[in-house]
Amino acid sequence: MDSEKLLILVATMTGTALMAAEDIAEYCSENNIKTNIIEIDNIETNVLTDTKGPVLICSSTYGQGDVPDSAQEFYNKLKDLSPDLNHIRYALFGLGDMTYRDTFAYGGKKFSDLLDSLNATKIGDPFYHDASDGSLPEEVAVDWFANNIKEHI
Ligand SMILES: Cc1cc2nc3c(=O)[nH]c(=O)nc-3n(C[C@H](O)[C@H](O)[C@H](O)COP(=O)(O)O)c2cc1C
Repeated sequence: MDSEKLLILVATMTGTALMAAEDIAEYCSENNIKTNIIEIDNIETNVLTDTKGPVLICSSTYGQGDVPDSAQEFYNKLKDLSPDLNHIRYALFGLGDMTYRDTFAYGGKKFSDLLDSLNATKIGDPFYHDASDGSLPEEVAVDWFANNIKEHI
């Protein structure tokens, strides 16, 4: 296991992504993985660029397929600065709602596309939670993390 902490970056509007992140962090603490949860809200891009350990991004979707309002500034700064992130390994848990069929989970997908374009490496397969499917996002998130991501951390 990487001795560095898992940095969990959360982009949320109404707290669902944060709940999912907190449950993943709880699972991690039970499994000897140290975490640091930070909400993407007026944070500087160096929170991401300076990190040494793996990163988990939990982002919901708002507007017309946008990242949550509070994360817009961070997303745009990262895009403008375009730092080389080839030292970053990241996993993605996106949240959306299939009612918004044409922009389903685009918030998380935007983060993923941006990080990929900056040479970051994906850990496992991204997961996109659909708020209309009746499942509990935090349960799905922990299952996904335990079965697909943990082994790569
Ligand atoms: C005004 C509004 C706009 C939304 N737009 C989208 C969208 O374009 N695509 C999508 O997949 N989900 C969309 N959603 C659904 C949310 O992303 C989803 O409910 C998510 O679980 C909310 O997570 P949060 O509480 O962490 O913000 C929207 C929800 C609201 C209320």
